[in-house]
Amino acid sequence: MPEPPDSGSQRVALVTGAALGIGLGITKRLVQDGWQVVLADIDGPECERAATRLGPTARTITLDVRDEEQVREAVRRTEEWHGGLDALVNNAGISDPHSGPLEELELADWKRWLDTNLTGAFLLAKHALPLLHRRRGAIVNISSTRALQSEPDTEAYAASKGGLDAFTHALAISAGPGVRVNAIRPGWIDTRSPEQQQAEPLSAQDHTQHPAGRVGQPGDIAALTAFLLGPDAGFVTGQIWTADGGMTRRMIYAD
Ligand code: NAI
Repeated sequence: MPEPPDSGSQRVALVTGAALGIGLGITKRLVQDGWQVVLADIDGPECERAATRLGPTARTITLDVRDEEQVREAVRRTEEWHGGLDALVNNAGISDPHSGPLEELELADWKRWLDTNLTGAFLLAKHALPLLHRRRGAIVNISSTRALQSEPDTEAYAASKGGLDAFTHALAISAGPGVRVNAIRPGWIDTRSPEQQQAEPLSAQDHTQHPAGRVGQPGDIAALTAFLLGPDAGFVTGQIWTADGGMTRRMIYAD
């Protein structure tokens, strides 16, 4: 069985939703670590701006993850540019969890959350798997702690992320031993620009309520993603990793 490429060779990653926020954080980290990264996002111009700042090892594709033809083409172009694929990060999502009262939720809106956050990951995995098998690659799906716990009026988002968790362990069993599949459940990650963070700083309580003492940053999710895609995680598959500063471990019953 061929060994996965060592960290010295130029590995290739496809990251969806890479123009902003967590996806951009993951992309920056992978570029720093020496990966060739294809940034895929529905927001083409923002994606281009990001890639320009990242340098020549970053290339972009405008992609709506809900569209199978566009997904097929994105994978084809990745192979054409780089000759293969070592990693897929399914990060694109509607990150706003609030869909309003269920009685008023339109079917079209329910489908928008499910199609983007769950079906998109299915389509990317479906078309990328043949390439990933050739290189003994890995997939990381970006889920959410909202797969486990909820505020009111967030059913569509929670269902999409719960589905993504289940998709992750099912695919790990089907795709092994050639391809490893894991998911990360971020908690509260402050994805605002440094200017926005300075203009409207979070409160002390926002930070101190976390057992880790602070709200998360995209780099926190990027570091875990880099580990899960790398050779040190060769014995790790089918797992859902919570990165939330410990919030899902805190009892919150009112006194
Ligand atoms: P964001 O809204 O800053 O970025 C999402 C990116 O996905 C954007 O660049 C957007 O253009 C892209 N996108 C949206 N729909 C798309 C589509 N149909 N096709 C291709 N690209 C599309 O969101 P953020 O906060 O960076 O979230 C990234 C992922 O992390 C999402 O899956 C979100 O659910 C998850 N997450 C975020 C948390 C947070 O606190 N920020 C917490 C838990 C999970």
